[in-house]
Amino acid sequence: MTLPTGPAAGAGSGSGLVHLSASSVSVLVDARGAGLPTVLHWGAPLPHGDLEAVALALSPPVAHSALDRPVLPGLVPERATGYRGRPGLTGSRAGGQDFSACMGLTGVQVEGAASAVVLCADEEAGLELRTELLLAPGGLLRLRHSLRNTGDDAYRLSELAAVLPLPQRASELLDLTGRHCHERTPQRHPLVRGSWVREARHGRTGHDATLALVAGTPGFANRTGEVWSVHLGWSGDSVSWAERLPGGPGVLAAAELLAPGEVELAAGASYSTPWTYAATSSQGLDGLGRAYHAFVRSRPGHPSSPRPVVLNTWEAVYFDHDLTRLGELADVAAEVGVERFVLDDGWFLGRRDDTAGLGDWTVDPVVWPQGLGPLIDRVRGHGMSFGLWVEPEMINVESELYRTHPEWVLHAGQRLPPPWRNQQVLDLVHEGAYGHVLGQLDALLREHAIDYLKWDHNRDLVEAGHHGAPAVHRQTLAVYRLLDELRGRHPGVEIESCASGGARVDLGILERTDRVWASDTNDALERQGIQRWTQLLLPPELVGAHVGPSRSHTTGRTQSLSFRVSTALFGHLGIEWDLSRAHPAELSGLAEVVTLYKQLRGLLHTGVVVHADHHDPAAAVHGVVAADASEAVFAFVQLTCSVDEAPGQARLPGLDPVRRYLIQPLFPGGPPGTSQRYAPAWLQGSGVVLTGSALGLVGLAMPILHPEQVLLLLVTEQD
Ligand code: DGJ
Repeated sequence: MTLPTGPAAGAGSGSGLVHLSASSVSVLVDARGAGLPTVLHWGAPLPHGDLEAVALALSPPVAHSALDRPVLPGLVPERATGYRGRPGLTGSRAGGQDFSACMGLTGVQVEGAASAVVLCADEEAGLELRTELLLAPGGLLRLRHSLRNTGDDAYRLSELAAVLPLPQRASELLDLTGRHCHERTPQRHPLVRGSWVREARHGRTGHDATLALVAGTPGFANRTGEVWSVHLGWSGDSVSWAERLPGGPGVLAAAELLAPGEVELAAGASYSTPWTYAATSSQGLDGLGRAYHAFVRSRPGHPSSPRPVVLNTWEAVYFDHDLTRLGELADVAAEVGVERFVLDDGWFLGRRDDTAGLGDWTVDPVVWPQGLGPLIDRVRGHGMSFGLWVEPEMINVESELYRTHPEWVLHAGQRLPPPWRNQQVLDLVHEGAYGHVLGQLDALLREHAIDYLKWDHNRDLVEAGHHGAPAVHRQTLAVYRLLDELRGRHPGVEIESCASGGARVDLGILERTDRVWASDTNDALERQGIQRWTQLLLPPELVGAHVGPSRSHTTGRTQSLSFRVSTALFGHLGIEWDLSRAHPAELSGLAEVVTLYKQLRGLLHTGVVVHADHHDPAAAVHGVVAADASEAVFAFVQLTCSVDEAPGQARLPGLDPVRRYLIQPLFPGGPPGTSQRYAPAWLQGSGVVLTGSALGLVGLAMPILHPEQVLLLLVTEQD
């Protein structure tokens, strides 16, 4: 249906008010005027009948010493309207011409209750804008712009952003930062007047990427408060910001970060932004997670088979590839119930350490004289699938590929970018380089029974130029194309997105991959935080979580088996440990955990992820509640020593308030270490039965656990 563009703003015919609604979320777009439409409301549901009244009620006053009409941020806030915040579109032609676009509305197409396309143009500036707004059933809003140059000469685009309004009461921010082995560290701060801008210039998503930029009402928490958030589904450079100025409402925004001259639109050419994924909730951060997870799980390509238990060889053997050793590892892995064996870095030509080999994706005949066949046969003979590590976007100077094609490295000027882990980035914009990698990976997959690729990316892009021009944008698209092409040729192969751990976690890469490696640290204490915040965006089944040996390779901390497994259980479970050195008791503990994971994964990988607002920062309570609320698994996690003698109650949120549930402890990998004389009474017997309401509002007394211990609770509905 195409709506008429309607009379001038303020006339209030109502015909140009577009209301998208789904699952407790409304988006009200005011397309009544002749100019670029404005999102008047993005948040709690609005009654359908009252839209004009809502629009009237939201229309602000005009201050002294201000423009004569109220200025709201349009879908792409424009300087031409008098908007004084960061514009949504910046760019110009030679000599700065057409630097200030002034779009007129040319059409609005509404499809059902949840999607609209807004068409605008500035004929004088020679620009056409198309904006798609799609509200998914779980309430997640997706927003994307396309800009077409209808002028006669080139238009140099600097930025095109998805911008959404924030009410003034959203005065607190939460975003994430981090580094290698310490990804997803939350930071909270007030949203004062000015801008909070998060730029990522890594040429990949980045260890410090804020998976979501969240604004909310003061004190918003896991289960309470109104919250709004944006995530950019893009694996190159990006920017997201929150802005509040004295002259108007705030905004949350996200855009691809473009280098000068990176996107120059020739006459007739177009640019499309990545999708921005925007979630809002009146039930705190868990409400945001619910919206993101519902959308991610609804994608047609979302993994539907049970997530297999993985054995990854990296921390088990590193570069020490040897058929006998790895064959024995596969045997033990099969004994503990592993279902997928992944051979990590070190198998290809010249790759004895991290100084050489990247770019030469053929099996090293020295280390693997009989090829990978014997190992693959042994793995598959045990009924396990086989996975292989690759890092297709990279090249070592010490490689056959570099010796033949030194020009296939992304660079600027006549210099090589500074090395990072001894490697450079292959210029996939170059068709020759692209074809080389595609050909080698395709041959690898055709010639071997490979079910899974762990696709790594171990450096930031620095001075990433193609023929002297900035190329992160085109490189990112080339990587997407490469993944799409390989998946098209080998549809059965699953792919993991890894980038020195968790430096490429975004919904762009996840359109063509099946899980992320959340971090290179398997330290369970670090993992508690990393998984919690990665799972703000992604459901647990997409987040790789491995059990390592008792002494963490990355932090040197020593942790009990029960803490390690009870942490990894809440992701896509794997093991990364030289099991030939594991104690028999550890192996039998692992086998029990693997069995438990197989029993619980149906619930853990389809249920609703919940986090209690726990009173003590030394502990955390999280869980997964079955979609029908018939059962749940919770973890009470003692992170550090508490100030209090006893931890008090843990509340278990998200259950059906009227149903009654039996709560019983589970002890995978052994009982957690405690320092109490007597356990809480309910833990001394065979559990306790309580209503969901009592569990959510009152909770249960928790035992006094040692730091770095988890009490796991199985919650089952009673008839
Ligand atoms: C970085 C990854 O995150 C690790 O898991 C491992 O695959 C190494 N690269 C291998 O070089």
